[in-house]
Amino acid sequence: MAATKMEIDNNFNNDLPWVEKYRPNELSDVVSHTDIIQTITQFINKQRLPHLLFYGPPGTGKTSTILAIARKIYGNTWKRNVLELNASDDRGIDVVRDQIKSFAQTRTLFSDGFKLIILDEADLMTQQAQGALRRIIEHYTPTTRFCIICNYVNKITPAILSRCTRFRFSPLPKQHLDARLGDVIDHEKVEIDDDAKDALLNLTKGDMRRALNVLQACHTACMPEKITIDDVYNVTASPAPSTIEYLIKSMMNDDISTCYQRVHTLKRQNGLALQDIIAGAYDYIQQIEFPVPTRLHLLDNLAEIEYRLSSGASETIQLSALIAAFKIGIDLAAKQ
Ligand SMILES: Nc1ncnc2c1ncn2[C@@H]1O[C@H](COP(=O)(O)OP(=O)(O)OP(=O)(O)O)[C@@H](O)[C@H]1O
Ligand SMILES: [Mg+2]
Repeated sequence: MAATKMEIDNNFNNDLPWVEKYRPNELSDVVSHTDIIQTITQFINKQRLPHLLFYGPPGTGKTSTILAIARKIYGNTWKRNVLELNASDDRGIDVVRDQIKSFAQTRTLFSDGFKLIILDEADLMTQQAQGALRRIIEHYTPTTRFCIICNYVNKITPAILSRCTRFRFSPLPKQHLDARLGDVIDHEKVEIDDDAKDALLNLTKGDMRRALNVLQACHTACMPEKITIDDVYNVTASPAPSTIEYLIKSMMNDDISTCYQRVHTLKRQNGLALQDIIAGAYDYIQQIEFPVPTRLHLLDNLAEIEYRLSSGASETIQLSALIAAFKIGIDLAAKQ
């Protein structure tokens, strides 16, 4: 990494978690999302910033982007001109309304522009609170701009959606994640095997926060040894592909009770959740050339079992259902 301002600042921040230490300070530090950044930069340059709505999965740069925008607009005085609220705080819309009111009313000396209010985690607000928010947005539009941030855009009421310009932050592509992690690895002098890095990129599925947290945890745990692929699976408590392969082969070849015992024992020994086994099984099925009816049967059942688990079904019964799905899948393949 070149000796950027970020890097020099970082030398004073050695105890910070890496997610904070490497949080982008400027818009140009935000990786991926070039279209979003270009569009918003134009808004800023033309001094026509609309209300914004950022949505997308965790760890993709929504909060980092709006903070970088605030720095770009206000420079050193950004903290005075920005109000950050966490909409999921259990404080009720009245408290939020009061905070917004007093913030919007106090104008900073010599500044006649607008102020910025960031409402993070807005999808956790009740419908009622969102209803109140729409009046608030309307009322303060002459002096403020809102940036509403959420993971699930379908939980935001249409009335708020129609008042904002929407930007979707997609999971970061593997090559962007790889490049940014590479910078951190160089800068922190992390020793890591190539296949361990690859596993880290696959496991974190475009979530930069998770990737940095896992990397830092592995680094702390392994120093001064090199991080291996097993370390990555241990820290994330995910089953290694070899474990998944062993389990699936057992489900396909052993009789039901032997297989149940094997899976059960491995689950207990390695502290695996059935959800992790299902996610691993899904990846495994993608790599094997099963006959089409078997593949469809397995995918349909994995989806069904995952859904039942998420709604609180018993792990023991769902494990039996998983084994049954593989046994029936094998029968279907034999009939081909
Ligand atoms: N696009 C990105 N470019 C550079 N770093 C990123 C990016 N996205 C995330 N990060 C890193 O991950 C950390 C978390 O990012 P951020 O808080 O912006 O995510 P978020 O999208 O707001 O997630 P959440 O929905 O969970 O609030 C940042 O501190 C930064 O280190
Ligand atoms: Mg955020």
